[in-house]
This record gives sequence, structure tokens and C-alpha cells, in this order.
Amino acid sequence: MMCFLSTFLLTCILYLVESSHFRGGIISWKPTENNQIELNYRVAFRTSYGSAHTCNAETIENGTLLSGEGTLQCIEGCSDTITTMSYYCTDFSANEDWTSGTNSVKYNLSSSSNNLYTFGFSSCCWISLVEGGSSWMMRTTANLTVRQDTGKINTSPISAMQPIVRFSYGCDYTLKIPVSDDDGDVVKCRWSTQTPNDECGGVCKTLSGSYLDESSCVLSYNATRSTGWYAVALQIEDFQKTTDAVPFSSVSLQFLIFVANSNASCASRPVLPQNIITDGSIHHSSVNTIFNESIIARSGAVTLRVTAIDTVSP
Ligand SMILES: *[C@@H]1O[C@H](CO)[C@@H](O)[C@H](O)[C@H]1NC(C)=O
Ligand SMILES: *[C@@H]1O[C@H](CO)[C@@H](O)[C@H](O)[C@H]1NC(C)=O
Ligand SMILES: *[C@@H]1O[C@H](CO)[C@@H](O)[C@H](O)[C@H]1NC(C)=O
Ligand SMILES: *[C@@H]1O[C@H](CO)[C@@H](O)[C@H](O)[C@H]1NC(C)=O
Ligand SMILES: *[C@@H]1O[C@H](CO)[C@@H](O)[C@H](O)[C@H]1NC(C)=O
Ligand SMILES: *[C@@H]1O[C@H](CO)[C@@H](O)[C@H](O)[C@H]1NC(C)=O
Repeated sequence: MMCFLSTFLLTCILYLVESSHFRGGIISWKPTENNQIELNYRVAFRTSYGSAHTCNAETIENGTLLSGEGTLQCIEGCSDTITTMSYYCTDFSANEDWTSGTNSVKYNLSSSSNNLYTFGFSSCCWISLVEGGSSWMMRTTANLTVRQDTGKINTSPISAMQPIVRFSYGCDYTLKIPVSDDDGDVVKCRWSTQTPNDECGGVCKTLSGSYLDESSCVLSYNATRSTGWYAVALQIEDFQKTTDAVPFSSVSLQFLIFVANSNASCASRPVLPQNIITDGSIHHSSVNTIFNESIIARSGAVTLRVTAIDTVSP
């Protein structure tokens, strides 16, 4: 937010009161030994909201645990507070005022009759959005029954979706949500819904006019409505077969789209040319080793410059 002129001060203060700080996240899981489940989450917040979300290069270097806020709750199959949502900051943008980080927690499950569990993270409020907003709700489900096909308990799909996607006003986009699944299952994406169970709080199906191809996880959007911030709330689900109706698990993924005015033509988008790290490429790295590789991006026109490369780190 910029407020340089004192005559704008009142507007700025009102803006601060109305808007808040949640910027989305993802909650996934996998089984571990001894009937435990490991819940992995990534959350993003407005950095300037307070020390709970303050992150810079030093915070990342030091591995400082940020206190974060709120709690992860078991809302079906058990009824406990699983953890406070503290996290290790992995990425931030001073310009765009966001912090993103991850953490994981192991949790002992008491057996339940159907082995179905639901985990939720909810509170208030989203940053100011063009559509919807206010309270946030994320809802992830797990079926811990041993699978007949693999003989193992399922592992949920994951996504390395970035917390913020930038669109130029007036341009047409197709956005591939990056998803993968350790069991090699069929992964699909669907809009989170308000009923029968609230999966998305104030941001259910809020990117009006957009289209989601559920089987390819591609979101299409013609950014011709209004500039500003939009939230997208999806469930990433894994199936044994394309035709199956009931997923093994349902993972909450919520991220932001920022539509801004730009004088550049729609055709002049930046690209990642063929290189070691390119769009959709996968790289393996061992634990506790440094992965050091350059990311090369090319602006879409001679008059344009790439000013930042934002990352989402494992
Ligand atoms: C990082 O660690 C150094 C050395 O321990 C300490 O002086 C500094 O305050 C820490 N910074 C943050 C942001 O935690
Ligand atoms: C969870 O289970 C493990 C292995 O059975 C046990 O060592 C640990 O103490 C348990 N933790 C809690 C919080 O009950
Ligand atoms: C849970 O998984 C088991 C094994 O794959 C399956 O038989 C069962 O129908 C699933 N339950 C639900 C409610 O999806
Ligand atoms: C996007 O919207 C613009 C302006 O309304 C229109 O000219 C263009 O055809 C639309 N593109 C698609 C793919 O619908
Ligand atoms: C677009 O161009 C106009 C005129 O050159 C300039 O005033 C305006 O700041 C530019 N807008 C953006 C978003 O770059
Ligand atoms: C990564 O590689 C670059 C270029 O080879 C080098 O300058 C830099 O020091 C390396 N960084 C680390 C952390 O190894």
C-alpha cells in the first residue's frame, strides 16, 4: 500500500481497518509410522500485519520460527487442536508485502470407525478483495484406510502453487496449477464449496467469469472485469481412476490473483526460455544439500524488464 500524500492519510487508515492479512495457503498430508499422520502446510500473510509474519532474508537464513497465528483443528474423526500455525518463512516480497512459509506436524490419530479425518484452519480476515473476502476457511480431508491397490495408506496430492499470480488487466490467461501425487494417482482440481461442508469461508467461487478444467487443473480467466485482488479456493483431489467419483483425499489450496493495469501488450508476457530450470521441469535434490541453479527469464519486449522472480521453495 502506498500513501505518500498527507491528504490521502484518511483513506489509508480506512483501508488498513477494512483490509486484513490472510493471503492463502495449502494443507496436505501423508501417513507416517505408528498410526501417525504428518500434516504439511504452507500459509501466506501480509508481512506488515505484525511480528508474527515479519520475514526478510535474515529470517530465512536463520531459520527463525514465526509464531504465525491461529490453530489447525481436527474437525472430523477427532476433535483436537493439532498445532498452532507457526511456520518457517521461505519466501517473501517486500514490494508486495507478503510472507510465505511452511511447517509440518506429526499427529497421533486415534482410530475411528471409518478412518476419515478432516482438518481445518479458519479465522479472519482475508486482505481486501474485489469479490468476497472476510473470514478464511481451509478444509483438508484424509482417508486412512489401507488401499487395496497399493496395500498402503494413501498420501495426499501436493501443489507448489505460488501464493500470488499477477495478471495484466485486459489480457486472457490460462493458468496451470502445478500438482503432483506420490502414489501416482489421477489428480483433479475442483472449486471449493460452501455446502455441505464449508471449505472456503468468504472466498467460495469468487473469480467470476473464470473457467476451471477439473481434470487438467487449468484455470482460464479473461481479466477484463476489474483490477485488484481476487482469491481462488480449490480442492486438489486424488483418484485411483479418472472415472472415480470419490477421492482418496481432498487438499485445500487457496491463492491470490492480482489484476493490475499495464501498458504492455498482452503478447509481451515474460517467458522462461529453455534452460535448466524451465516451466514444469522437475529437479531432485538430497536433504541438507544446497541446490544452486540460475533461473533465467526473458521479458516479452525490448522495452520491458523483468523486475523480480518470486519463488515458492520446498
Ligand atoms: C539472526 O541470527 C543472528 C545471529 O544469531 C542474530 O543476531 C539476528 O538477530 C537474527 N535475526 C533474525 C531476524 O532472527
Ligand atoms: C504418539 O505416538 C508415538 C508412538 O506411538 C509416541 O511415542 C508419542 O509419545 C505419541 N505422542 C503423543 C503426543 O501422544
Ligand atoms: C476410504 O478408503 C477405502 C479404501 O480405499 C474405501 O473402501 C472407502 O470407501 C473410503 N471411504 C470413503 C468415505 O471414501
Ligand atoms: C477477453 O475479453 C476481451 C474484451 O471483452 C475480448 O475481446 C476477448 O475476445 C476475450 N477473450 C476470450 C478468450 O474470451
Ligand atoms: C501507461 O502509460 C501512460 C502514458 O504513457 C502513463 O502515464 C501510465 O503511468 C502508464 N501506466 C502504467 C501502468 O504503466
Ligand atoms: C551458486 O552458484 C553461483 C554461480 O556458480 C555462485 O556464484 C554462488 O556462490 C553459488 N552459491 C552457493 C550458495 O553455492
